[in-house]
Amino acid sequence: MTTVGIDDISIYSPGFFYPLEDLAHRHGVDPAKYLYGIGQEQMAVPSPDEDIVTMAANAVAPVLTADVRERISTVIFATESGVDQSKSAGMFVHGVLGLNPNCRVVEFKQACYSATAGLQFACDLVRHRPSEKVLVIASDIARYERNSEGECTQGAGAVAMVIAKNPSLVEIHPQSGLFSLDVMDFWRPNHRDAAYVDGKLSIDVYLRSLRESYADFCRKDGMPLAAIEKLCFHQPFTKMSKKAFAALREAAGAEADHLDETSYAESQAYGRQIGNTYAASLYIALASLLDNCAEDLGGRNIGLFSYGSGSVGEFFAATVRQGYRRRLRTRAHRALLAGRREIDYATYVAWFYNSAKSAEDRVCPEETAGRYRLAAIDAQRRVYAAARNLELNAAACP
Ligand code: HMG
Repeated sequence: MTTVGIDDISIYSPGFFYPLEDLAHRHGVDPAKYLYGIGQEQMAVPSPDEDIVTMAANAVAPVLTADVRERISTVIFATESGVDQSKSAGMFVHGVLGLNPNCRVVEFKQACYSATAGLQFACDLVRHRPSEKVLVIASDIARYERNSEGECTQGAGAVAMVIAKNPSLVEIHPQSGLFSLDVMDFWRPNHRDAAYVDGKLSIDVYLRSLRESYADFCRKDGMPLAAIEKLCFHQPFTKMSKKAFAALREAAGAEADHLDETSYAESQAYGRQIGNTYAASLYIALASLLDNCAEDLGGRNIGLFSYGSGSVGEFFAATVRQGYRRRLRTRAHRALLAGRREIDYATYVAWFYNSAKSAEDRVCPEETAGRYRLAAIDAQRRVYAAARNLELNAAACP
């Protein structure tokens, strides 16, 4: 069978962050709760001229080689912060980046899980027609009520993945364990900007979903855990990976004896600085693992668990390809995070809450540090444009 998987991966997160230590002081909470109890240091904050489309365009731009542009047959955009009930966010990205007109574009939704559905569908498309490439994009802004328990887990970011045969980065194995359960642990009705969440229930359902997905993976003769050396979990906050690992180890028994906290530590580095990115979160964790693991992972196996509230879980396995490091964008990813600017509480509130509320026509002042921006909403049409610093950033993010 043709080997299929992720040929390229690029992440983007806004150029501004708000420190959780400051949020803890504002909430009258011991900062250790957010820094260690939740495991988050910073939350990425989008400027008012950024949304899921601009974040996605910023993530996609670096992977658009001439070959990718020519061979993309399908663009799958996974998100739960959609900007339009009809037009897919991918169509806006298609326009902003001038993608190949002879391709299909579609938006997927099932909370944080949808990018994994996108990845699996993309792999099957490529298995069926190996000359084609599929672009899978995940982009989200995680927003809860102000002063709520979920606020400390907010974040924003995007990931773009090119799915192809003989991939340079990781092969995705076809067997996967699945578990779906209709439950109200986290949801966002159409009229709301912020999610409703039953936090404790969401953690319980996440862990149940992991156990059930892993059991299904074993029933379907998925790769034995004994052959897996690294793990990546859907990561709404980094402490969740620790809880997930404990649940998996208990479920797997002796098969997991060789695994410990170092098996997923590198996957937490980016998320700790960005916060929850919903659909993008698992794949930002994967990029974090590949970028930050000091050992050469070539030939080694990774177990991945994807979870989306509501709820769907999927456990699957990937094998890192030899020579993968040549294709990584580690320097650009690190530069992106290191170059961000800290903002104060007033700016965070104005940007994260007040600017999100308005669906009215407006011209957006240019604030973004990215390459693409929402320039205006004009007669209820979203108008996207290249940012002033497009060329500057193009040089920094080859
Ligand atoms: P909370 O009730 O404020 O926190 O909300 P807590 O009291 O449970 O404390 C959290 C941890 O901090 C605990 O550790 C405390 O012991 C510790 P744990 O027992 O969990 O190991 N702690 C301290 N540690 C050090 N020093 C201290 C201190 N004080 C306390 N002084 C909650 C936490 C996660 C529930 C909240 O942030 C929330 O509702 N978050 C949003 C929901 C969420 O992220 N759920 C995760 C699973 S569902 C999921 O991942 C799907 C999702 O991504 C959405 C989607 O699918 O679309 C969310």
